[in-house]
Amino acid sequence: ELKDNTTIVVLGASGDLAKKKTFPALFGLHRNNYLPKDCKIVGYARTKMDHEEFIKRVKSNIKTPTKPMEEQLVTFVEKCVYVSGQYDKDESFQELENVLQKIEAGKPENHRIFYMALPPSVFIPVSQHLKKNNYPKNGIVRLIVEKPFGKDLDSSRKLQKALEPDWQEDEIYRIDHYLGKEMVKNLMILRFGNEFLGATWNRHHISNVQITFKEPFGTEGRGGYFDEFGIIRDVMQNHLIQLLTIIAMERPISFSSEDIRDEKVRVLRAMPAIQSENVIIGQYGKSEDGSKPGYLDDDTVPKGSRCPTFCATAMFIKNERWDGVPFILKAGKALNEQKAEIRIQFKDVTSGIFKDIPRNELVIRVQPDEAVYIKMNSKLPGLSTQTVLTDLDLTYKRRFSDLKIPEAYESLILDAIKGDHSNFVRDDELDASWRIFTPLLKYLDENPEIVPMSYPYGSRGPSVLDDFTSSYGYKFNDQAGYQWPIQSTEHPHKL
Ligand code: BG6
Repeated sequence: ELKDNTTIVVLGASGDLAKKKTFPALFGLHRNNYLPKDCKIVGYARTKMDHEEFIKRVKSNIKTPTKPMEEQLVTFVEKCVYVSGQYDKDESFQELENVLQKIEAGKPENHRIFYMALPPSVFIPVSQHLKKNNYPKNGIVRLIVEKPFGKDLDSSRKLQKALEPDWQEDEIYRIDHYLGKEMVKNLMILRFGNEFLGATWNRHHISNVQITFKEPFGTEGRGGYFDEFGIIRDVMQNHLIQLLTIIAMERPISFSSEDIRDEKVRVLRAMPAIQSENVIIGQYGKSEDGSKPGYLDDDTVPKGSRCPTFCATAMFIKNERWDGVPFILKAGKALNEQKAEIRIQFKDVTSGIFKDIPRNELVIRVQPDEAVYIKMNSKLPGLSTQTVLTDLDLTYKRRFSDLKIPEAYESLILDAIKGDHSNFVRDDELDASWRIFTPLLKYLDENPEIVPMSYPYGSRGPSVLDDFTSSYGYKFNDQAGYQWPIQSTEHPHKL
């Protein structure tokens, strides 16, 4: 439930994440009346600026296309306060405490949510200073933390150890914003709420699963951060593995957060570490027409960097449901399109009456344009007996045209305000996922002779990609003419 008298403190308030995601999400909650009553928002960062300047910055990242929204923005910024301070000095956190106490004065209970939108280097000192100086005496406290949660198993454990003396696991909310995306929140309903899907959801019927993340832009000035992490740490170890666990987990006993997370951890524990022979890595070069720079042309990227901006890997789950089914994870920057999707390819139908009939595929498109569609075979209407590949198509824009899909961050911050951990990463889950990726990361870091394959900016990735996916059983067999979505507006309802 929502607690009155809650203050949300955003640490790192002048940083990119806070400006682009946290404050706009808080505004979204405010305008839909989802913030607790009398909630105040305190921005905290090193940058020295006065209240007006802070409000100007907050506003500059929030779009208000309508008059009512403009008015809502005015009441939103009335909730906002700014405190400038260091990340490693008790005096600074004492100053924050003074501001908090002023806000809270005269109220019997005071709850605090600390949102750490901070670079990893200050993560530990800030969490320690918060505990020492700003832990509420009478109320609930929640600590929202943002990735990166370490760089490998060791550093992740160190981070965890540093938090442990001060913060209980149930006070910590580790954000993986993919868990806040509408379609990701739908995955369990799709799987466990539909008998026909649940019944075929195993190695007897499914040939392979692909989980794909594509972005049409490169690092563009963010190379300093990116180069230290690379695509595997940046999106695969977190966002994509989260999608995989929800696709692969067993039915939880209930929708409670611990029951869900127990099942997710079980899947991860059934996965061996990634084998380097099941991996390809790439790095983007200039676009074919030369108009877009290569990764190494980015001034913020160290010369000669071997950092992968693309990776594809096949992973396996050693349990009864999935043994032998490859889960192919693909992620890349500077590709031909923006897309996050899960593609589940079923096995061939029994041979005999059909020749070369395409496989069924269930595609769950996370973004953009949320959709769930099943590629299926049907008789071509008419006097012939020809079969045709078509689809059952749930495209959100068409089916739910009046509904607004919330931003992932709105949904997650609301969960944290309500105290629901389901869509946050638990400590053992994080540990289990680093265990799967760490040997590969070490191998890539320690072997200078392994150089990523180059692919042109704006392409589909390294040229070996299609051979790679087909080597794990993926069959590309679209009958001529099949395309999703059908562009025709004349016949919007197919099948
Ligand atoms: C972030 C990564 O976690 O996710 C970025 O650090 C990536 O590199 C981003 O661009 C993608 O998120 P979304 O919501 O835009 O798909």
